[in-house]
Amino acid sequence: MEIKSYIENNKKKFLNELFDLIRIPSISAVKEYKGSVREAAEFLKNQFENIGLDNCEICETNGHPIVYAEKIKDANLPTVLIYGHYDVQPVDPIELWDSDPFEPIIKKTDIHPEGAIFARGSCDDKGQMYMHLKAIEVLNNTGGVPCNIKFMIEGEEEIGSDNLEIFVKENKEKLKSDIILVSDTGMIDKKTPSITTGLRGLAYLEVELTGPNRDLHSGHYGGSVANPINSLAKMISSLHDENNKVTIPGFYDKVIEYSDEEREKDKIPFSLEEFKNSLEIDEVHGEHSFNTLERRSIRPCLDVNGIWGGYTDEGSKTVIPSKAFAKISMRLVSNQNWKEISKLFTEHMKNITPAGMRIKISEHHGGEPYITSTDSKAYRAASQAYLSVFNKEPYALKDGGSIPIIAQFEKELGVKTILMGFGLDSDAIHSPNEHFGLSNFFNGIETITNFYNFYSK
Ligand code: BES
Ligand code: MN
Ligand code: MN
Repeated sequence: MEIKSYIENNKKKFLNELFDLIRIPSISAVKEYKGSVREAAEFLKNQFENIGLDNCEICETNGHPIVYAEKIKDANLPTVLIYGHYDVQPVDPIELWDSDPFEPIIKKTDIHPEGAIFARGSCDDKGQMYMHLKAIEVLNNTGGVPCNIKFMIEGEEEIGSDNLEIFVKENKEKLKSDIILVSDTGMIDKKTPSITTGLRGLAYLEVELTGPNRDLHSGHYGGSVANPINSLAKMISSLHDENNKVTIPGFYDKVIEYSDEEREKDKIPFSLEEFKNSLEIDEVHGEHSFNTLERRSIRPCLDVNGIWGGYTDEGSKTVIPSKAFAKISMRLVSNQNWKEISKLFTEHMKNITPAGMRIKISEHHGGEPYITSTDSKAYRAASQAYLSVFNKEPYALKDGGSIPIIAQFEKELGVKTILMGFGLDSDAIHSPNEHFGLSNFFNGIETITNFYNFYSK
């Protein structure tokens, strides 16, 4: 049978299966959902069996399990390792969802007049990961899978992949492959495909600043004792200069600077107006002498992700708090190293802590940035596959998000990754009303299917 018609004839079935997976609330960050995370793993194992893979197994870790499956046809054929994640982000703030995050529904949007799947994980990453299982099913019914394949789908991507890192180190032989294939990134727009050639790294820390040994009456003591929230706010605002550059000494030392030619060559279509409109902001912000796309891809940044302290409940309470807290992330680019950057951050924060205050800094997690070239057999096969479905060659795009395990794959296994993403910026991943276009889902399945045929030629 022809690839396009197999997909056309099975659209309903593919969606029903994906919906069953989405209905399992596999939130890796929240303890109460531990059982659901395992249930999602079991579901996948069954689906791997259904598409005829061998050695389908649930691999235990110190955290959530990894699901593995393979089809080894011939040791002389190339081997593709497919990675993805079945865990999802928490749903809060739940009141901003228009429908149940774990009851997928199809709704039309301006961008997706043919419909989009609304649910947590519909795009990140259940929808995108499931396309890979369906691509194998399509191949099974249209001439066979032309190479060896191995699937490794984890349940801890959204919490830092610590246990997968151990698993990779301990299973190098099992994971031996020629190329790793991942769909967990985005494309430029619905009709303009791109292959992600860069991901940012991440250093995530938490700061606790302590002033007086207890909360104080803000009238009795106010004006005579430094307030840790005031001080922390001042410290944080000093982390950027007037050009919006990060002021931590050494922060930019290892950042790859691109020449004007390279920056020109890497230009991709982008409308600043649409960007601003989509976020309802009338001005953008960022490091001087870089454009918005560059700020989101080839430049590092520092952001407060959360800040708290003192009295935040209803009404007012007059108090100078003893402590102030902040969660701060830095997105990193090649060749910054997250451990080094975490150390620079910690030292700098200690140096700028005002007299009379104590600071405690703890590391949450981190990961290295990743870049890859377009000059490879797998990249060319991916490019041809996009061309065959979208009638357009994909742009090479560096993305601002992080998938820390991708750099680990290269370091531990010596294997490069092709990031064939099908999400859109408007999909609202990690946000209320996350969704994934039906056309993105079905075009993704077709593109991935064609990838195997081009790659194995
Ligand atoms: N799929 C995303 C990463 C992503 C999204 C890359 C969009 C490119 C475009 C992934 O699931 C994710 O959310 N990663 C986390 C990192 C992790 C350590 C929590 C991130 O980027 O915040
Ligand atoms: Mn993801
Ligand atoms: Mn995510």
